[in-house]
Amino acid sequence: MSDNQKKLKFAIVGTGNRGVLCFGKMLVKRDDCEIVALVDPNHVRSAAAAEMLDIKPAFFKSISDMLKEIKPDAVIITSPDYTHCENAIIALDGGCNVLLDKPLATHVSDCRNIIAAADRSSKILMMGFNLRHHPVLKKLKSLLDQGVAGKVFMIENREFYHGGRTYMARWNGDYAKSGGLWIHKGSHDFDVFQWLMDFPKPVRVSSFSGLNVLDEQHLPFKLRPGVEAGPNCRRCAYAKECPDIYDCRESKLFGEDAIAVDGYYKDNCIYVSPKSVHDNGMSIVEYDNGAKAVHSECFIGPINDRKYTIWGDRATIEVSLTNREITVYPRWSQDTVTHKIAPDDGGGHGGADPLLLEAFVNALKNGEASSSTAEHGMWSTACGEAAELSWREHRMVEIAELFK
Ligand SMILES: NC(=O)c1ccc[n+]([C@@H]2O[C@H](COP(=O)([O-])OP(=O)(O)OC[C@H]3O[C@@H](n4cnc5c(N)ncnc54)[C@H](O)[C@@H]3O)[C@@H](O)[C@H]2O)c1
Repeated sequence: MSDNQKKLKFAIVGTGNRGVLCFGKMLVKRDDCEIVALVDPNHVRSAAAAEMLDIKPAFFKSISDMLKEIKPDAVIITSPDYTHCENAIIALDGGCNVLLDKPLATHVSDCRNIIAAADRSSKILMMGFNLRHHPVLKKLKSLLDQGVAGKVFMIENREFYHGGRTYMARWNGDYAKSGGLWIHKGSHDFDVFQWLMDFPKPVRVSSFSGLNVLDEQHLPFKLRPGVEAGPNCRRCAYAKECPDIYDCRESKLFGEDAIAVDGYYKDNCIYVSPKSVHDNGMSIVEYDNGAKAVHSECFIGPINDRKYTIWGDRATIEVSLTNREITVYPRWSQDTVTHKIAPDDGGGHGGADPLLLEAFVNALKNGEASSSTAEHGMWSTACGEAAELSWREHRMVEIAELFK
């Protein structure tokens, strides 16, 4: 068998940022994988993706179209969140292994349909929960597994995400398309909580969230009489003075040629564009083992970090992903220990993305079961969906309600 035949054949479904700049770039660097197909309803974007990646794949507008002609070993689904359910089910029913980026889907009901498809398929479905592969969180998990903290009864995570303001510029800011940011973004974190605590089931969720800053009242410049801001950075009269300018005019993926096909602007004004999600909020989850987790996320401010505190009955642990530091404070001694995790070597999301892909490739090669399953994806979507309902309806939401 030639080397070429031994390569795992991949299709990327959704040739936007994540599909191309993360998975596409990682796949072309590997000598055991090749991208045989790009799937995107926008043919200009997928053609630009092929050029950027310097590959010659087949192009399709949908997975169904692709399956009529070729069946790759695996598909990586990086289409918008509201398309995950349909794409995952078609891929699984079509006999493909699937790496599905988070969230599993934007509703628990859709998650259950994906789980049913995964159950009737003999194929692998792995979730793109890259935080589980983050070297700092992997170290934290191993410390918890060694019993360093004892029994964990409370976790707090504060997420500071400067880049999150750009959610307001694209589909992510539309509740109908992302399920809201407690699903789109928070599903990572709700999954990490469960994973760190060995998967207790979430029981109820409360959330207080809002859009306090990224609106028309908070434009970071003074409007001139008769001159409106927006609608997008490329056309905005205030582009030179706006500190939040996002210039993607030269982007091959999101330039005018691609926009002409589907009208998808990546640079809608984060202040004046319509949006239906929060820009900051707090949510609390209670689990069936009595543990609690608090996740707060804020997309305003200059900081990028996730800062965790884990309380166990033997120690308290503090973690900073950005500082790559874990400090263990034993409950009954002053013997504080700080673990420094080596800087990442340029892999996306602090070194997590290459390790996520590696785990998927290993699962494909060895037929290993996926470590992050559709069921895990469903629980994190459930926490996110409950958090969305909670802040929108001003009430605590029982997870069981989502399964009726
Ligand atoms: N795990 C992570 O850290 C992480 C980070 C960023 C994004 N994501 C996830 O990756 C996915 C893509 O996000 P993005 O920021 O790259 O979005 P994007 O808007 O940059 O790209 C989405 C692409 O999907 C295409 N598309 C639209 N409908 C489609 C369909 N039905 N089938 C196939 N393709 C379709 C669009 O044309 C576009 O090219 C989302 O699910 C997002 O939640 C995960």
